[in-house]
Amino acid sequence: MSLNVVILAAGQGTRMHSELPKVLHPVGGIPMLTHSIQCARQLSATQINVVYGYGGQQLQSAICDDDINWCLQKEQLGTAHAVQQCIANLQKNSESRTLVLFADVPLLRASTCLSLLESQADLAILTSVSENPTGYGRIVRDRDNQINSIVEEKDASPAIKKITEINSGIMCADTQLLIQWLAQIQNDNSQKEYYLTDIVELAVQSSKSVAGIHCKDSSDVMGVNDRVQLSQVEACYQQRQRQQLMLRGVTLKDPETVFIEGVVEVASDIVIEPCVTLRGNVTLEEHVHIGMNSIITDAHIGRATVVHAHSHIQQVSIGQSCEIGPYARLRPDTVLADEVKIGNFVEIKKTNIDTGSKVNHLSYLGDAQIGRGTNIGAGTISCNYDGANKHKTIIGDDVFIGSDTQLVAPVIINNGATIGAGSTITNEVPGDKLTLSRTKQKTIDHWQRPRKKDRNENKS
Ligand code: UD1
Ligand code: MG
Repeated sequence: MSLNVVILAAGQGTRMHSELPKVLHPVGGIPMLTHSIQCARQLSATQINVVYGYGGQQLQSAICDDDINWCLQKEQLGTAHAVQQCIANLQKNSESRTLVLFADVPLLRASTCLSLLESQADLAILTSVSENPTGYGRIVRDRDNQINSIVEEKDASPAIKKITEINSGIMCADTQLLIQWLAQIQNDNSQKEYYLTDIVELAVQSSKSVAGIHCKDSSDVMGVNDRVQLSQVEACYQQRQRQQLMLRGVTLKDPETVFIEGVVEVASDIVIEPCVTLRGNVTLEEHVHIGMNSIITDAHIGRATVVHAHSHIQQVSIGQSCEIGPYARLRPDTVLADEVKIGNFVEIKKTNIDTGSKVNHLSYLGDAQIGRGTNIGAGTISCNYDGANKHKTIIGDDVFIGSDTQLVAPVIINNGATIGAGSTITNEVPGDKLTLSRTKQKTIDHWQRPRKKDRNENKS
């Protein structure tokens, strides 16, 4: 069997009230459309077609995927009209089936689609029973419990509105039949749209088999039409992600407050405290501990490293057994080797720090390279920017930099150097020696500290 997948993504999503096309709104940090594409990939689709319209080029550049057939639907005349835009691309042999996915149904899992693909019916529809079916198309069955038609909410009589079995929008059909049915669909309904759902009646009329496949977990088929539904889908997605982490051996102290917005790889015996967000591509090795209120974005964190509370880490690679924070900010292109310590109120950008070095308090290091076993004293600043260009600070192994030192880049500090506290270093510093820049300490005799006038003095 060859499997065509058609993903409908052309609608503006008026009910979202947004400049961003609806299907680019993220769920778990990933555009809804990407979720549908990933689902199609997991089903080993022969080809994936995405119908786009509103937002045009914006969709293609956001998704940036060469293995997709992009089909333009110039005017959004309805879901059936949308599928028609792909007909030229579809494989049409007698074995071929076409699966239609909606990009605004992002929680659908490939395993759920499989039950649809396994059906031998000419048309198989994924349905679900919902306590609150408002807004969805209703599945109308006859006395023998066979599906007769799907009626949209806006066209439904009060009696039909009471039906709780809903259309997920996801369906799979024999490709040749699907093309025949699509050609017959009219737009004589309240929205003047060509409804894909009308193929059900056409199939029934031509005595073809129609199967309704019940979706066991109704969260799979939640549709997003407004931001209330978006928040419900997001909550459900987060729930799934948290469960997966916990089942893989991660302790979440307060699961409801941990958010996953990307792809997270974890090992066992990790602890994540409350109010942590993991964003982008994050890898955590065994025994990593993430303190509360931390945000970790696109980072690799090595075994047994501890990130204390309130730390921000973005595009950083951290080795094993490091200690970071609390209140540390590690910015892009920072690489820390093993057993590095970064303390409170330290900002580090585009800097490599080798094994066992420490930057423990109130420092800024940017565009720097630091050797092994070096100690950067409290309040040390690399002055990397001259107002136009960035310059490098290179610090060797076993260096001791006294507190409140300014390192004016470009500058090199050689192995074993010691720098006296409060120095402004502008030239290369030799190894194994003490270097300092300091004005002589003076004491001024007869100096008096200015005093505030006493209020009563003014009155008299
Ligand atoms: C649709 C179904 C409804 C179902 C619900 C499930 C139809 C007529 N109705 O309603 O039975 O219960 O989904 O979530 O199919 N789109 C296009 N081109 C268009 C119109 C829509 O590509 O001309 C795309 C949208 O981007 C969206 C999807 O099709 O991804 C569904 O469109 P939407 O307007 O959200 O339909 P619903 O009212 O949710
Ligand atoms: Mg919808």
